Amino acid sequence: MGLRTILTDSDPALRKQSRAVTNFDRRLHALLDDLAETLKHANGAGLAAPQIGVLRRVCVVGFEEPIELCNPKIIVSDGTQEGAEGCLSLPGRTGLVKRPCRVTVEAQDRHGKPVVYEAEDFLARVFCHEIDHLDGTLYTDVMERFMTEEEVAALEEEEDG
Ligand code: NI
Repeated sequence: MGLRTILTDSDPALRKQSRAVTNFDRRLHALLDDLAETLKHANGAGLAAPQIGVLRRVCVVGFEEPIELCNPKIIVSDGTQEGAEGCLSLPGRTGLVKRPCRVTVEAQDRHGKPVVYEAEDFLARVFCHEIDHLDGTLYTDVMERFMTEEEVAALEEEEDG
């Protein structure tokens, strides 16, 4: 299918519980391919299936070659980091969100094979954010507060410099 529309704001699909993947078939592979293509096009860090209206426990994380996660679970989390977080489904806003510094995630790949990923810093944040989507949780549910435009601009300057 290719590029999918990313659901935004108060779309009810963003608030639903997604169901576990049980068939690692061509339909799942098409879903994963579409998620990766849509993520790349949107220039984001991660995208979960419910964000394109598919209520399955599937997400993709990362840039160039995204990591594919089916039925992901955080099995270890450690430390706390506070940082800026946005979401392709909540355009134009940034929140200040506390997340673990390090996580270990257990999942399955597109063939159903068990995989384990260890992530820290920004990648740990993205894993937590995407896995939350599978339970209908948005960062606005767990954030400290929204960041002001000035704070976001200062962050961007830091990144550019
Ligand atoms: Ni998101």
